[in-house]
Amino acid sequence: MLTARRTIEFRDHLMSWYREHARALPWRGIGDPYHTWVSEVMLQQTRVAAVLEHYAAFLRRFPTLLALALANETEVLAAWSGLGYYRRARMLHKAAKFITQERGGVLPSTAVELRTLPGVGDYTCAAIASIAFGESVAVVDGNVERVLLRVTGRAEEKTAAGRTFVKRQAAALVPASQVRGKEGSGPGMGGLVNPPGDHNQAMMELGATICLPRAPLCLHCPVFALCKTRGEHKTMPRGEVRSKPIAYLLDLRKRGTITEVLLEERDHTASLMPGMFELPPLPEDAVEGREPALRVRHGITNTNYYVRVFQPETREDETLRMAVPTKTRVLHWVPVKRLADKPLTGLARKILMRMKVMKPKALAESVAE
Ligand code: ADE
Repeated sequence: MLTARRTIEFRDHLMSWYREHARALPWRGIGDPYHTWVSEVMLQQTRVAAVLEHYAAFLRRFPTLLALALANETEVLAAWSGLGYYRRARMLHKAAKFITQERGGVLPSTAVELRTLPGVGDYTCAAIASIAFGESVAVVDGNVERVLLRVTGRAEEKTAAGRTFVKRQAAALVPASQVRGKEGSGPGMGGLVNPPGDHNQAMMELGATICLPRAPLCLHCPVFALCKTRGEHKTMPRGEVRSKPIAYLLDLRKRGTITEVLLEERDHTASLMPGMFELPPLPEDAVEGREPALRVRHGITNTNYYVRVFQPETREDETLRMAVPTKTRVLHWVPVKRLADKPLTGLARKILMRMKVMKPKALAESVAE
């Protein structure tokens, strides 16, 4: 545990650095708790770059909590397509409906109450309560955990005791709540000193941009002087990465002037991505000796999928189509113009874009407008 004096030093150095170096992200310095909530749910286990591709479009589609509550699940999943971990979108939607029906449409403003919402765990409730409502509650994510273990020199361990230690450290560092003016928080806004939300974001920012998992940039670190390990902390080796080959069918047809693509709707009871749309998977023996139209690598958590996409060579080329069991699968011919409305898996979207069947979102929108 840092001494009281060092705790203050840590906060001050961290905040000065954050005010100067924080990335200008669209969810920073905003005054809408619903927007903060959406951004924090999107940011869980997801790269900032991927969130940037979806955040504004999602809020344009569902600008208020009520708009989200009134949408149907397919629309919500379609807007989430490409962000992965689709359960988050389902839970966000469920919570929006719950708040609308049971709480008069008002998002709770304390961590304890937020925690009772569907899909809101320790991380999300602390993030919303501190960032949107200024509550003095610490956020702990993977980045914050790494920073704190390195600063204190405690060994990394995946145990309850390890987690408790990190939580205590984080709680000891978070500043007290401030009396908030109308201006809101955010770096450089309102003249507030160390509001808890900025402190929490600064901790995450430090982990994301300086205290990197493999090669930390210690020479740029604002709390280098207070750090016990300074780049020498033992980091556990990454879990083994598996490789998996996978093949998909890309089948297109014309109906008058409309082009359609064959998609499979995943089983609604599947544990992974239930109800999402993807290209029909092909068994390995059906593609033996064929050259794929596209090869892509798709990394999800600790698996690298080596993806090959096969297209029937002629209209009469039935062997690939026959390899998709139509009786046991739910298949749809989807007009390519409607693809953006479907809850596509991230991989399906990637393939359809690479194969120029689908346009990137921003382009599709500007064409539609
Ligand atoms: N990771 C998740 N939420 C974040 C935030 N608000 N700032 C920085 N990194 C984050």
